[in-house]
Amino acid sequence: MTDALYNLDIDLSPIFDLKLALVGYGNHGRSHALCLRDSGAKTIRIALREGSPSRAKAEADGFEVVSLPEAAAWADAIALLAADEAHRMIWDEAIAPHRKPGQALIVCHGFSVHYGLIEPPADCDVILAAAKGPGGAVRQEFEKGKGLIGFWAVHQDASGTAKELALAYLAGIGSGNVGIFETSFREETVSDLFGEQVVLVGGLVALAKASFERLVAAGVSERMAYIDCVHEIKYLADLIQARGIAGMYEAISDTAEFGAREIEGKIAGPELKSVFDQAMADIETDRFARKWVETYEAGDAMKADRAADKRLKIEEAGKDLRSRLYGASD
Ligand SMILES: NC(=O)c1ccc[n+]([C@@H]2O[C@H](COP(=O)([O-])OP(=O)(O)OC[C@H]3O[C@@H](n4cnc5c(N)ncnc54)[C@H](OP(=O)(O)O)[C@@H]3O)[C@@H](O)[C@H]2O)c1
Repeated sequence: MTDALYNLDIDLSPIFDLKLALVGYGNHGRSHALCLRDSGAKTIRIALREGSPSRAKAEADGFEVVSLPEAAAWADAIALLAADEAHRMIWDEAIAPHRKPGQALIVCHGFSVHYGLIEPPADCDVILAAAKGPGGAVRQEFEKGKGLIGFWAVHQDASGTAKELALAYLAGIGSGNVGIFETSFREETVSDLFGEQVVLVGGLVALAKASFERLVAAGVSERMAYIDCVHEIKYLADLIQARGIAGMYEAISDTAEFGAREIEGKIAGPELKSVFDQAMADIETDRFARKWVETYEAGDAMKADRAADKRLKIEEAGKDLRSRLYGASD
């Protein structure tokens, strides 16, 4: 990877006097606001919905909190850091009717723009500034003098300086310490959705649940099954993150490596390929995106699934271990 940009390549000044409104003060919103301020952005306001539970935190952090319509009328740039499924509603109801012409739009995931859920007018820059990873890690890494790998893309460049703003924003949240790469809205969106669906969340959870059930059916205690199929995921994930897959294989026992190589190809067989093909087709068309946003807008999304998960044996099995190790109180 030789095409990375670093702090030395980037001019931070586009963010210094920019009237920047951050919509949402969740994981990414809070981290971005704190980092950008530390990097010299002097005029940041946090835009929150009526009754937002995040208001107190934003104010305690020293930010002025405004309503979404106020932010839309005031800002030179809006960073839409609210939940993706709410973007259409937020844009249509609270931003589009009040926005200042020429105001740039910044997102940290391409979802709503790529699928046309929001359609910004031609007068504005539309920028992707994605620090790849969970929002909390943006701040944690920044405080260590590092950052998350950044990706930028420009969907619309009305000002002619959209790239400069994208880079300044990403450098402002620490990505210039570790490398910033160009992408497209399509690439970032498709890759992010596919990765989280088939590996990081959906795939991992499916493997954990099915393997736990199979071990318990073989007479293994639930505690032992939980440790081997869930708890230890982190150690393997840490090894892969630090050393790659080949390095992970070098670091584990030969028995584990041999067994894994025996079964790897069987798991990744034709059925898995067909599941992947379906997931990719739903992502590449807008089927997944539309279904998710319609489900969200209809209300109570996933409430029943979340309640059902809490009753699973695999959840019960982990409670005791987590409270011993981490004092968790779930
Ligand atoms: N680049 C990456 O790798 C990456 C990784 C993770 C996430 N992301 C992106 O970061 C963005 C935010 O994610 P997050 O993890 O920070 O989410 P989060 O922690 O759940 O925070 C979401 C924020 O959105 C606000 N919000 C939700 N619905 C809203 C509505 N209807 N009106 C106004 N505000 C609303 C919430 O407001 P309240 O505080 O009022 O509840 C909250 O402040 C998303 O675009 C997500 O895809 C990017």
